[in-house]
Amino acid sequence: MKPLAEGWTLPCSWYTDPLIFQQEQQVIFQRTWQYVGTIAQVAQVGDYFVTQCGTVPIAIVRDRSHILRAFINVCRHRVAEVVQGSGNCSMLQCPYHGWTYGLDGHLHSAPRCEQEANFNAAELSLISVRIDCWGPFIFVNLDSAAVPLQDYLGELPDLIRTVGIDINSLQLRQHTSFDMAANWKVIAENFLECYHCPMNHPAFCQLIDTAPTVYQFRVSDRLLITTAPLRHSPIEAYPTDGAVSDSLYVLLYPNCTFEVYPGQENLSVYRFDPVSCDRTFGRLDYFFPPGTSLEFELKLTAFLNEVGMEDVPLVESVQRGLQSNGVPQGHLVLGSEGLIHQFQMQIYQDLHCSYTIG
Ligand code: FES
Ligand SMILES: [Fe+2]
Repeated sequence: MKPLAEGWTLPCSWYTDPLIFQQEQQVIFQRTWQYVGTIAQVAQVGDYFVTQCGTVPIAIVRDRSHILRAFINVCRHRVAEVVQGSGNCSMLQCPYHGWTYGLDGHLHSAPRCEQEANFNAAELSLISVRIDCWGPFIFVNLDSAAVPLQDYLGELPDLIRTVGIDINSLQLRQHTSFDMAANWKVIAENFLECYHCPMNHPAFCQLIDTAPTVYQFRVSDRLLITTAPLRHSPIEAYPTDGAVSDSLYVLLYPNCTFEVYPGQENLSVYRFDPVSCDRTFGRLDYFFPPGTSLEFELKLTAFLNEVGMEDVPLVESVQRGLQSNGVPQGHLVLGSEGLIHQFQMQIYQDLHCSYTIG
């Protein structure tokens, strides 16, 4: 392996090897805080929705004491998924054999088990997972020893506040998703540079100034941060009048981004979940405060959906290149792709303890 410090990328095999994918699940996705949704989705007692931490299925539930809970959404009987989708219920019932759990996760009833020897319902509660909130956003973490969410977020709340966003006023207004034939790291790396923007995002480049002199990036703990101004004479894909003057793009390691665009208050949160080595499912939530003009909301989200769609063929092309075994490692342009370098250094650091580099 050629050194990352000289601008070489991670080995291409790290994007195609199932063993690496498995290691990433254990040492990255099972140890980091993951954005899963909003408090409004579980406002009432009995409200629930399913999500995942990496590939581990998770259920988020509001219990009878109004406490927000997260469980591994796997039945303690023969490990079927307990609930699907979202809704409201008084109990969580597994559809396979009907074991029923209270909203606080305890095993309430299990048909025919009263007479079983060695059957102790108290040992068979749903497994709880750490859950915490930042404003309206819910995060979960499978690692009981992980740092508190507030520490994990670092300066992210300050950054969002400083560009003019009051997160407590935000409401989820639109949602879209992307099913991509690419490794999750390719999606992150595509987000972390705008070197590809002039060739691939014409409307974006007519609006945002992507010149290297003003398109600036830095690292702060687990945050990979980019700031960029509006062009002096932008061609506007949406009306840019409003309190927010600059754009802000932040990747919260490993797989969640927070983006703010110039104009009225807005925030888009994008989480891309690894499905397999070569499959990633992206969920994009658009937030606006009440009173936002409908024109701004519709035009901004249409613009961002278009930019998102422009990226899909790019990341899928990269994945085909990675799978070709034609090139062992790529080479970065560090002046424009410094954040990718930082991201890959973190992946390397997280994985190399548990993986022998061949
Ligand atoms: S697997 Fe859930 S009740 Fe049997
Ligand atoms: Fe892009």
